[in-house]
This record gives sequence, C-alpha cells and structure tokens, in this order.
Amino acid sequence: MRQKSIGVFDSGFGGLDIMKGIVRELPEYDFIYLGDTARAPYGTRSGKIIYEFSREAVDFLFQKDCELLIFACNTASSDALHRIQVEHLPKNHGNKRVLGVLIPAAEVACELSRSKRVGVIATASTVQSKSFIREINKIIPDIKIYQQACPLLVPLVEAGEQNSEMTQIALRKYLTPLLAKEIDTLILGCTHYGILEAKIRKIVGRNVKIISESRIIGAKLKDYLARHPEIETRLAQNGKRTFYSTDLTDNFQKLGSRFFGEKIEVNKAELR
Ligand code: DGL
Repeated sequence: MRQKSIGVFDSGFGGLDIMKGIVRELPEYDFIYLGDTARAPYGTRSGKIIYEFSREAVDFLFQKDCELLIFACNTASSDALHRIQVEHLPKNHGNKRVLGVLIPAAEVACELSRSKRVGVIATASTVQSKSFIREINKIIPDIKIYQQACPLLVPLVEAGEQNSEMTQIALRKYLTPLLAKEIDTLILGCTHYGILEAKIRKIVGRNVKIISESRIIGAKLKDYLARHPEIETRLAQNGKRTFYSTDLTDNFQKLGSRFFGEKIEVNKAELR
C-alpha cells in the first residue's frame, strides 16, 4: 500500500531550497516539510542541543506518517544524524531511515575534484564538527579539505539582504582564504548558500566547481529509492506537499515561498 510520505527537515526555511530540488526530481511523491524556525538558527548551537532538537523533529515527522526522512540541514546532518541513526531509530522507529546531505555532497566533491583541494563553506557548528572532512576522506583519504565558517551569511539571507553590498563583502571575506588555498571544488555546505550561488560564482571564477546541494540531493535520493524498493513501494504518489513550522511568522511564508519557488501554506508544529 502506497500511503507514506518523504519527510524533509531543516532548522528553518532554508531547507525548502533543497526540497525544491528534490521535488523537481521526484514530483510524484508526497512530501512533508518541517522547519524548526522557533529555535533556528542551529548553526551557532552546541552539538548536544542540535541532537535534542533534531530528535524531536524526527519523532514529529514519523508520527506524521513519513517512511523516510531527509535532513536538509547541514548542521543537523553534522551534529545529530549519526547518533540518531545508531541510537534513536533502532530504539524508537524500527527500520525507518533518516538520510543527510553530507555524504551526497562529499561523493560529488570526490568525483569532481582533480587537484584534490576542496573548499567547504558552512555554519560554525558544521565546521567545528569536521563532518565534511570525515566524509570526504572516507572516500578519498588524501583529498585536502579547507573549511570556512560563514556566520554572517545565514542572518544576511534571512534578512532578505542577499543582493546587498554587505553580503558581497561577507562573501569576499569568506572566499578569499579558500581561493588562496587553490581549491578547484567548493561545497556550499549550508541550506542558505544555494541562493547565493551566482554571487559566489562571480567571486570564485569559472575554474572552481561549485556543489550546490539543492542541485544534487534529488538525483541522489532518486538513485537511493531505486536501490530500496522496500521503501519506495510504500511511498504515496499523489504529489502532495505539506509544510510545518514551529513558529508561524510572515517571514516564513514570504521567504519560505521564495526558497521553495512557489507560494506555500504553513501549518504550526509542536515539537516535544
Ligand atoms: N540549516 C542550517 C544548515 O544548513 C543553516 C541555518 C541554521 O544555522 O540553522 O547548516
């Protein structure tokens, strides 16, 4: 019986950009999105808190009849996903699956990089966790990874300032040290950075390959579902999208619609 949805979780509304990419690739399936806007941003929080919040989000989405969850949030994928997979799921959700965004991005970086010098821009918490370094070096041990935390970018994008001079200055400040390391591939390791891709491209030039998660996760998920018919055959195919947020603000409606690329109606979620 095809009755289940695919859940997409993010700390806020940035994950809607990732979901847009997934929906483009897999339009027939039903999706439930959850943004924990009441407690975002996660990127400056401790690993312990990020785990607690993410665990609550997992419980919420499985209660809403999801079969499979995608952590669109890089910070949650870095700080909480592994523990959720090995501790929380087996105890509480049987054989349900939660997948993140780091491994797909790491795989693509390993395919694309010729010079074996990869840059990662992300939140402070993701950088601190060294999760991208671990995942990339699991695939190719001698790739050099240069990380740059970009704490100003999430607030600038959330304030609707992505086209402003301030954002331009912040991008230059963050990207210049990576360019000095002669990277040939750059991972945009945060939900909010895909929207800045054209500006990042102008700064890094044409010789640096940019990996934007919103462009790769959909294809990776499609491939995963083809390899997991036990999951795929349970997924409803009504093209239904439902959106939840832990705080209902005009901003979520406005920026959320911009990130998702179409107008969205948001329902209130209570996490516990
Ligand atoms: N969603 C987060 C990420 O991808 C960025 C926003 C936040 O810090 O909560 O890392």
